[in-house]
Amino acid sequence: MGNHKVIQFLIYLTLVFMSFPCRAMESDIENSLKSWQEKSAKIKSELSSGEVTKIQNMREHLTENGKKADFEGNVYSVFLENNIHCVFKFCEEDQIEEPEIKPEIIAYRLCKETGIGNIPPIVWRKITLPDGRSVSGYLSLFIDSSVDISNFEDDELYKLLETMDKTETSNYKIFNFVFGNFDVGVHNLLISDNKPVMIDNETIMNPWCVKYGEVPFVSFYRFDWLPEKPILSSKFSFESARFANIEARKEIKEKFDYSPTKRNHNFAIYKNCYWVQFSDVDHAERIKKLIYSDFLPEKTQKSLQKLTREKLLEIFGSKSRLANQLVAGILERRDMILKEFNGKKVAVSGNRMNLSKSSCSPTVGNS
Ligand SMILES: Nc1ncnc2c1ncn2[C@@H]1O[C@H](COP(=O)(O)OP(=O)(O)OP(=O)(O)O)[C@@H](O)[C@H]1O
Ligand SMILES: [Mg+2]
Repeated sequence: MGNHKVIQFLIYLTLVFMSFPCRAMESDIENSLKSWQEKSAKIKSELSSGEVTKIQNMREHLTENGKKADFEGNVYSVFLENNIHCVFKFCEEDQIEEPEIKPEIIAYRLCKETGIGNIPPIVWRKITLPDGRSVSGYLSLFIDSSVDISNFEDDELYKLLETMDKTETSNYKIFNFVFGNFDVGVHNLLISDNKPVMIDNETIMNPWCVKYGEVPFVSFYRFDWLPEKPILSSKFSFESARFANIEARKEIKEKFDYSPTKRNHNFAIYKNCYWVQFSDVDHAERIKKLIYSDFLPEKTQKSLQKLTREKLLEIFGSKSRLANQLVAGILERRDMILKEFNGKKVAVSGNRMNLSKSSCSPTVGNS
C-alpha cells in the first residue's frame, strides 16, 4: 500500500468514526419516535429545543397528502432537525383568557399521570411563522395515522373502534367522560398501533354537568370571566332544561349578549351561565358513543381511585375558581364511573347500558 493510499484509508476511517455518533443518535431518535408513548420525555426535550427546518400551513400539508382539512385554528406542519415531524398550534394573544392555563398541556399531563388515553407528547414554545411573526403555542409530535379516518362517517368510526384493543378504546371514552372532553369525533382522532390517539383536547376547560348515561350540559362561558352576579341555585337542575327555540335564543342573546347556535339543542341557565346540551340526534349519539364505555379496565379503575383534589389542582397549575370548579367536576364524574362499575361483573363485549334510550333525548321544537 503506497503512502497516499494509507492516508486515504485513514481519512476514510476517520470519516466513518465521525459519522458514527451522529448515526447512533439518529437511530436513537427514530426509535423514540416509533415508541412515542414510552419515550415521551426524550421526545419532549427534542420538541422544546429542536431547530425548525421547515414550516408549512397544516391545511396545505394535509391537502398535498390527500387528506381532509377539517379544522378552524392556526395550525402548522413543522419539521425539526433530525426530521422530527410536529404540529404547531397557536392562539392569538387576545383569545387567551387565562394565559397561565394551557389546556392541551393539562390534558396531556392528565393522560400521563393516570395512564388513561393516548395524547402525543406536547410542549409550549416559541416558533417563527412563515410570515416572520414569532409566536408562542403548542408544539406536539405529528402522528401519522395508520388509518385515515378523516373522511369516515360516525358509524364507520364506531365499527373501527369495536375492532381495536378493548382496553385502549375504553380508556379513550373514559378519558373523555371523566375529564370533560366533548369535542370528540373523527375530526379529533388519529389511530396508531391499534390505539385511538387524541388530539385537540382543549374542551377539557369547559365545565360539564351530566347525569350518567346522558348527553352532558356544557358551559360555553367559563363563569370565572362573567361579571359577578348572585348565584341563584347551587345545584344544577336538569329538570329546568328547555328547548332553545327562537324566543329562548332571543332571551339568551339579551341576557348574555351571546347568539346561541341554531342547531337543535336544550339549554339550562345555571350559575348565571348558559349551559348547552347538544341534543340534535347525530351529535347526541356521537357524544354518547364516545364518552360511555361498557368496560372499566382494572388499571384504569385503580388510577381513578387514586385521583385526589390536590393532585388535580397541581396538574391544572392553578387554584383559580375555574380550576376548582373543573376539578370538582372531574371528581364527581370519577365517582359516577366507580359507582357504575362497583361490584358489577363487567361485560367485556356488548353494550350493557342502553344508551340510546336517554331521558334527555331531543325535544321537538321550533328552531
Ligand atoms: N399530533 C398530530 N398528529 C397528526 N396530525 C395532527 C396532530 N394534531 C393536529 N393534527 C392535524 O391538524 C388538524 C388541526 O388540529 P387541531 O384539531 O388541533 O386544530 P383546531 O383548529 O383546534 O381544530 P378545531 O377546528 O377542531 O377546533 C387536525 O385535524 C389534524 O389533521
Ligand atoms: Mg380539531
